[in-house]
Amino acid sequence: MSADNSNVDNAKVDNAKVAILMGSQSDWPVMKRARDVLAELGVASDARVISAHRKPARLHEFMDEAEAAGIQVFIAGAGLAAHLPGVVASLTIRPVLGVPLEAGPLKGKDALYSIVQMPGGIPVGTLGIGGAGAKNAGLLAAEILALADHGLAQRLKDWRASQAEGLQEIPQD
Ligand code: RP5
Repeated sequence: MSADNSNVDNAKVDNAKVAILMGSQSDWPVMKRARDVLAELGVASDARVISAHRKPARLHEFMDEAEAAGIQVFIAGAGLAAHLPGVVASLTIRPVLGVPLEAGPLKGKDALYSIVQMPGGIPVGTLGIGGAGAKNAGLLAAEILALADHGLAQRLKDWRASQAEGLQEIPQD
């Protein structure tokens, strides 16, 4: 089984510690930014299209097995009413990071409000709308895992340092 699950099929990914869940195939071009940054850091992830309202049985089946399969952090992205992250959070006490996606006339603000305004008691750590949010969700998942993984912590430090390389102090014309 491959960690390069860019076709988002139902194959399980070996050693995945992060699940990347999304409401629709149409979310994948943005959500794969979480997969990509995790891969840069050497963290395998398992990406699934699991709609809370169109495929609730698939969601429950996945969540029933996810923790035993080694998933430690969940990333959930959705657009519009965007209830997926909250439903995922209701089914686990492991950290859930929500990514609001831009879909429809409200351009992601609907999803942002839906995800960030969880009623007290079931938390979802909410990132920004779209690609930056997906990328930061991947980084934040890695930071959570790095609390118990010194090698990953070092890779995160190196990744941060490489990001700063080439950033000149004086703006060029
Ligand atoms: C949400 O509805 C999905 O997360 C997606 O962002 C949005 C639109 O889905 P499609 O109509 O493209 O399948 O459930």
